[in-house]
Amino acid sequence: MGHADPQLDVQMQPFWMPFSPNKEFKNEPRMFARAQGMYFYTPDDRPVIDASAGLFCVAAGHCRPEISEAVYRQLQTLDYTPPFLRGHPKAFELAERISEYTPAGLNRVFFTNSGSESIDTAMKIALMYHRVRGESQRQIFVSRERAYHGVNMGGVALSGLVNNRRAFGVGLPGVYHMRHTALPGNKFVRGQPEKGAELAEDLLRFVTTYGGENIAAVFVEPAAGSFGCLPPPKGYLNRLREICDAHGILLVFDEVITGWGRMGENFGAQAFGVTPDLITMAKALTNGAQPMGAVAAKQGIYDAITNAGPERGVEFFHGYTYSAHPAACAAGLAMMDIFAKERLVDRARESSPYFADAIHALQDLPVVTDIRSIGMMAAVDVAVDRTPGARGHEMQKRLYDAGLHLKNTGDALLVAPPFIAEKAHIDEIAGKLREVLAKA
Ligand SMILES: Cc1ncc(COP(=O)(O)O)c(C=O)c1O
Repeated sequence: MGHADPQLDVQMQPFWMPFSPNKEFKNEPRMFARAQGMYFYTPDDRPVIDASAGLFCVAAGHCRPEISEAVYRQLQTLDYTPPFLRGHPKAFELAERISEYTPAGLNRVFFTNSGSESIDTAMKIALMYHRVRGESQRQIFVSRERAYHGVNMGGVALSGLVNNRRAFGVGLPGVYHMRHTALPGNKFVRGQPEKGAELAEDLLRFVTTYGGENIAAVFVEPAAGSFGCLPPPKGYLNRLREICDAHGILLVFDEVITGWGRMGENFGAQAFGVTPDLITMAKALTNGAQPMGAVAAKQGIYDAITNAGPERGVEFFHGYTYSAHPAACAAGLAMMDIFAKERLVDRARESSPYFADAIHALQDLPVVTDIRSIGMMAAVDVAVDRTPGARGHEMQKRLYDAGLHLKNTGDALLVAPPFIAEKAHIDEIAGKLREVLAKA
């Protein structure tokens, strides 16, 4: 895949690529030049089917004109509004539209620009909520092994993936990790495993050891995404909810991936029948077309913080220059229209069984060591080849060369297509995976 043009090498050096092997990529770039619907296109116009919805963002397929036109119009009308002390109508409208999708009661929306910012925002909301209620001793956060909660320092402290934290020091004090739920007995399980609810008792151990009255919040992805699709064992999230309720601990669902239909319901909260106190979201909120994240909070949390503030002063000292950016709000509103008009969440739910059948059928390949799936998300683990992650990395390159884009985390290949995927697209994804993995 190398390129002969030395000038291109020079031009490629200044961009410090995130979460990427810079040296390798710049030697053998795998680029996209355009995208449409289910496909990316390489600079030489070869189609590459998008099996990961970009990075779990592009739920409605690429380059939706409704979104680009709304953003264009917005930038010509009102390009920017300071989000502090000033407002613009689309921010209020989008918050209202979002709250039609979140579980009942989670109807106050704080805008951010990414999932990572949503996580740090949710941590601050939790601390502030306890503080205004006279419980500022609640400073401990509980998270989980194998969790991914973004890359800001708060999220890194919560993170349970070793490579995302080992270089960055001790992180925040007072963050404890429950065990992950990837039990050996749960291999090749479709949907929620029967076994593993008892792992929620880890939270009770922290309550016993540190005092439940000192714990601010528990952060979990309802189904872990970035690690490689770990659906929650049946009853696990319900048990976390019970323990949180018994000890006044806030439960936060990080729904940056699981939100907006990926689990076959609006949010994982509805899919798994457990209502958290805060939901973090991003990605599909704008179909990935504009950077935007949000935290949906229970009204009682908003009321407590807002009522505790001064009559004419700022109640919560937090926000970003680009919170509720007009262009992102325009993209979000256009996406809300697409969700409604095209019944995207229903389509995700309806496509899930066919999708799961297609991906689980790869189980017979010798290189495949596990497959997990839930909704429109699945992970195919490939056998370790000498160094953990080496084969997964090699596979995503070969898949690109064969015309399929997906994200890998280590040796897990993450499959999470846009919800507009037809059966033929799912067949194409499974077929390309089979073709490449069979040669591994
Ligand atoms: C569960 C979860 N939380 C947070 C993030 C971070 O989001 P962002 O990359 O937009 O900062 C991600 C990104 O994949 C995620 O999957």
